[in-house]
Amino acid sequence: NTRTRLIAGNWKMNKNYTEGVQLAQDLANELGHDTHGVEVVVCPPATDLKGVSGVIEFDRAPFGLGAQNVYWEASGAFTGELSCDMLKSVGCTHCIVGHSERRDYFGETDGDINLKVKALLAAGIVPISCCGESLEVREAGNQVDFVVGQIRADFDGVELESGDQLVVAYEPIWAIGTGKTATPEDAQEVCGAIRAALVDIFGADIASQIRVLYGGSAKPGNVAGFLAEEDVDGALVGGASLVAADFAAMVERA
Ligand code: G3H
Repeated sequence: NTRTRLIAGNWKMNKNYTEGVQLAQDLANELGHDTHGVEVVVCPPATDLKGVSGVIEFDRAPFGLGAQNVYWEASGAFTGELSCDMLKSVGCTHCIVGHSERRDYFGETDGDINLKVKALLAAGIVPISCCGESLEVREAGNQVDFVVGQIRADFDGVELESGDQLVVAYEPIWAIGTGKTATPEDAQEVCGAIRAALVDIFGADIASQIRVLYGGSAKPGNVAGFLAEEDVDGALVGGASLVAADFAAMVERA
């Protein structure tokens, strides 16, 4: 396919400000100025966004900047939350939404994710919208129906002008941070079903432009296998994105 490959790093709750700026600088050095047509995004904790944005600006680092969460209201009495405008004001181009850790530990629902996706699109920030099944769902063989159900709920009433405005990440929960990866065939089964659902929701043209990423113990040694699959257009990387050399190696192999 002709979709631009995308490698995104989710730092999760790791790296204080100083460490985060250092990691961004290390990554800029590892990558050089040319990522050979691969799009790269890093998603640090909110306290690091401004510092990493400085590295991108001053070192002309070849990566976009993503937040890990957002709130859909524009402003007001929502203690602890961040708006789309706040994210934009520190240089965010992307924002992860609906990560399984937010769904599981913080009670985020498909309804919340739907509102977040709509708010981000309205602000011109690309949502990296996550979906994925638990081990229980996988063992019952219901992964495709489950994930397609999430996609339909998360994008209900969402309108796109182009497929570049949205990224989807498929992350089987049982493969996150466990060292247990899905096989490329497992990933393709669900990513192919996600693409078919996107065709239903957005039409064939737009759906053919949306990048669908795989996430879950992705690392330098296995990333190429996932990317060889027709409907896998990149990776959302957790642990391996915290080591500049590993993350850069994944970009090189994409
Ligand atoms: O967002 C990233 C994923 O949760 C994957 O994390 O690469 O540490 O398994 P991991």
